[in-house]
Amino acid sequence: MKNLLIFSFLIFSICIIAQDGTSQDYLSSEFHQGRREALRAKMPANSVAVFFANPVRNRANDVDYVYHQDPDFYYLTGYKEPHAVLVIFSEEQVSEDAKKYDEVLYVQEKNPQAEMWTGYRLGVEGAINELGFNRVFNGKDFLNNAINFSEFESVLHKPFTNDYRDSRDPADLASLVQSFKNKVNIKSIQQNNDPLGLEVKQEIAAKKDVNVDTESLYTYMGELRQIKSPEEMKLLKKAVRISAMGQIEVMKAMHPGMSETEVQGIHEYVFKKYGSEYEGYPSIVGAGNNGCVLHYIENNKTKLEQDLVLMDLGAEYHGYTADVTRTIPANGKYNAEQKAIYDLVYEAQEAGIAAAVVGNNSSDTHKAGLDIINKGLYELGIISSPDEQHRYFPHGTSHHIGLDVHDLNTRGSFQPNMVITVEPGIYIPEGSDCDEKWWGIAVRIEDDILITENGPVNLSSEAPRRAEEIEAMMKKSSIFDKLSLPELD
Ligand code: GLY
Ligand code: MN
Ligand code: MN
Repeated sequence: MKNLLIFSFLIFSICIIAQDGTSQDYLSSEFHQGRREALRAKMPANSVAVFFANPVRNRANDVDYVYHQDPDFYYLTGYKEPHAVLVIFSEEQVSEDAKKYDEVLYVQEKNPQAEMWTGYRLGVEGAINELGFNRVFNGKDFLNNAINFSEFESVLHKPFTNDYRDSRDPADLASLVQSFKNKVNIKSIQQNNDPLGLEVKQEIAAKKDVNVDTESLYTYMGELRQIKSPEEMKLLKKAVRISAMGQIEVMKAMHPGMSETEVQGIHEYVFKKYGSEYEGYPSIVGAGNNGCVLHYIENNKTKLEQDLVLMDLGAEYHGYTADVTRTIPANGKYNAEQKAIYDLVYEAQEAGIAAAVVGNNSSDTHKAGLDIINKGLYELGIISSPDEQHRYFPHGTSHHIGLDVHDLNTRGSFQPNMVITVEPGIYIPEGSDCDEKWWGIAVRIEDDILITENGPVNLSSEAPRRAEEIEAMMKKSSIFDKLSLPELD
């Protein structure tokens, strides 16, 4: 009977979840709490780690860029707002009112007027109730508070960037960072301690030496973030699948009269259709010679014509980003030169994926593909010896993905539950020292590979990869075929 009651309650809960229409696949507060505990376990004795939220970045005048939380901050807290500080202590502390704690979160203050313009803020209560922190204060308490960093053997933080100002917030990140610098006696890059003219008490607690360590957190966070938990894998796999769906729809929709921007728009429409909030990095759509620019993001060629189109795009889903590239012929059929280069990159990628096994590292996936590319370029007469140093494959083959597209890691051997890319490429810019028939051909093929004890698993395999499979997919019809908008002058 008891089991039946529990079962009924579970079903009831699931129905409620389904009815309210919200996705339940966000990271849980238990996940973030577990990550803080894992970090604490790595910290040296008698140390304190201090993390700052990402700054708000201004686009122009009174328009800011869409805010994106610092990935380490998000990983450890789940907090998505700016002007915040996380302090983690290696050992338990005791407050003046005899409360025990080992972490403190400082958040941006509730402000009904500001929230009317820019949206809901969690505030102290929200951070306690929704993020599961026990000790939360407003940012201005960090400016005024009595954390005496000189009491700790080491104070860990990441190097600062330079872009922290938000004149609308009295406890903005500039003030929080400046206050911390004063407390740990770091020579300021901004000499004015009270840049906003506000009477914020800047307690200069530490005038004796503080042992500041700006390197260890990078290692600790890399060790944690490079291994994906099941909760993270769910989100990352979804981001990758969404990106593959974008590639498939574009394969069906593409025609020579399209522009690079339109191609980008179709990918990004599909991303949004499947609930991806953002792109994990600026979308790259380069036709012909434009594909030779590795991170080409202008995407402004107005007609694809007969070009190969290199499309490197990643959907970001609940913070986790994919990184998938396909290179396809705008007219639906690779010509002889395009196909020769494409097949060579494909073969190199196959070898790279096969090398994505436990114990290997990113040099192994790179070397596996590079040897094939060198031999192939020589056989095609593009280089004069397989050992020739050339610029046709100028980048590495593998990086980790996760909350960052180039995700934190320790540059060690591959371990189960890491997710890496395998992305060889050949780029032959116009004017290269080879037969002109190769000029303007750029091919990259990039897949997202899960490392397992049983070998590599290609998470983006839904998007066709073989030249023949791509050509077959390009013959299919697309939901965008019927899209017809009036011409504008
Ligand atoms: N999309 C960036 C990269 O492939 O690394
Ligand atoms: Mn990549
Ligand atoms: Mn990429």
